[in-house]
Amino acid sequence: ESSQFCDAGIGYGESTCGVSSSSSTKLLIKGGTVVNAHEMEVADVYVEDGIIVAVRPNIKVGDDVTVLDATGKFVMPGGIDPHTHLDFEFMGSETIDDFFSGQAAALAGGTTMHIDFVIPVNGSLLSGLEAYEKKSKKSCMDYGFHMAITKWDEVVSKEMEIMVNEKGINSFKFFMAYKGALMINDELLLQGFKKCKSLGALAMVHAENGDAAYEGQRRMIELGITGPEGHALSRPPVLEGEATARAIKLAGFMNTPLYVVHVMSIDAMEEISKARKSGQKVIGEPVVSGLVLNDSWVWDPDFITAAKYVMSPPIRAARHGKALQAALSMGILQLVGTDHCPFNSTQKALGIDDFRKIPNGVNGIEERMHLVWDTMVESGQISVTDYVRVTSTECARIFNIYPRKGAIRAGSDADIIILNPNSSFEISAKSHHSRSDTNVFEGWRGKGKVEVTISGGRVVWLNDELKVFPGSGKYVEMRPFSYLFNGIGKADAKYLSSLKAPIKRFRATT
Ligand code: URP
Ligand code: ZN
Ligand code: ZN
Ligand code: ZN
Repeated sequence: ESSQFCDAGIGYGESTCGVSSSSSTKLLIKGGTVVNAHEMEVADVYVEDGIIVAVRPNIKVGDDVTVLDATGKFVMPGGIDPHTHLDFEFMGSETIDDFFSGQAAALAGGTTMHIDFVIPVNGSLLSGLEAYEKKSKKSCMDYGFHMAITKWDEVVSKEMEIMVNEKGINSFKFFMAYKGALMINDELLLQGFKKCKSLGALAMVHAENGDAAYEGQRRMIELGITGPEGHALSRPPVLEGEATARAIKLAGFMNTPLYVVHVMSIDAMEEISKARKSGQKVIGEPVVSGLVLNDSWVWDPDFITAAKYVMSPPIRAARHGKALQAALSMGILQLVGTDHCPFNSTQKALGIDDFRKIPNGVNGIEERMHLVWDTMVESGQISVTDYVRVTSTECARIFNIYPRKGAIRAGSDADIIILNPNSSFEISAKSHHSRSDTNVFEGWRGKGKVEVTISGGRVVWLNDELKVFPGSGKYVEMRPFSYLFNGIGKADAKYLSSLKAPIKRFRATT
């Protein structure tokens, strides 16, 4: 069964393929600087059976324990990617990375957990989940699920309850774009927000005005612009700003927390900033492509080069990425995802005559940890502790799995990376672990390298070699009512009494 995963391209060890890892279940990481979201200290980390047992200086162990020297390096919680699409059927194609190759790539880049989006089948959440349970059987690292909502009726409403109460899903995503496919309308958005709130589940939005994007596409085709640049031109930042503002206002009206995925523009970021300043619970997720790339690529005369950058919302002019970096450093945006949704050159070529047919999506699951380090920490924009917060801890808190995930402390899962700040990395499609034949970060060189990845207490990435096997990853159930729901009930009660007071006054005078 598992031998099908022994294909070329992934350099995992022959001996570990399909068999349980024989490596020691006891590990000591010695002498590194242990970093958590709020503090760092030089300490040893002792791991047994996949769990962190102790974090303190000078831990003594017997010779049955594997020792890793981390002197001069940072020992940090493995990255958690809140936004991926593995084995995703989309735009007449299917993402080239499945749960094994995508996760292998993630581990090679220092990410030890991801949360993927389950897409309902004909609107059915249960059928969608069943399909994703099958797809994810080959997992080699821990993962969780968000659930998309693509239609609305009593069945969907009931299925949302089942997802939260029985299936370990605590977030639901609404696509405000992709007209004729995944897109929903405001009426559904409101019903969905209401249901999310009652369940203590987090509402997430892909915020672009899908009707306007559709009109923008028609405009480009009428102008004879059919190449990849037409994609970016057809859905400008204002469409993202509008939908972000609308979703925020509707979530505010329902008084439920909101998570905006892939914030790509100043327009969207400023709406989030405004809402947060007014006290509304809004989370903004930039993705690594939006932070570090710019729109110049979609103008490349070579179709395949240009098409690999096509995603929605589009990658914007450079000033947007710079502003998103600043917003991340100031806490206006809270965590970094990837929206890893890779299609290879052949798949991208579906849109060679019409940009509307180019499957939307870029890679990032393997590159995120390195690029955020290089762009944000090396540049001095954020501290090392902030790095842990935006790549791991904040995601764990938002999706209610902290401190099992997102922390180096006794009792937490042993998902750990060792990063050498004095080493360097280089990105290329030749050396990456994704199945895609391209990489949107091709040629990027930077400082800071993830030298070791430990997943569930096993060393899976060491000396540039992966040792992973299908079936070793666990599904992580996520409970509802994260910290974002604190105070929601009190605010509702206050709102109700504010409504009743004038009604009482009115009745008294009539
Ligand atoms: O272009 C993108 N972003 N593809 C993935 C689907 C989505 O909208 O997240
Ligand atoms: Zn095999
Ligand atoms: Zn999206
Ligand atoms: Zn996405």
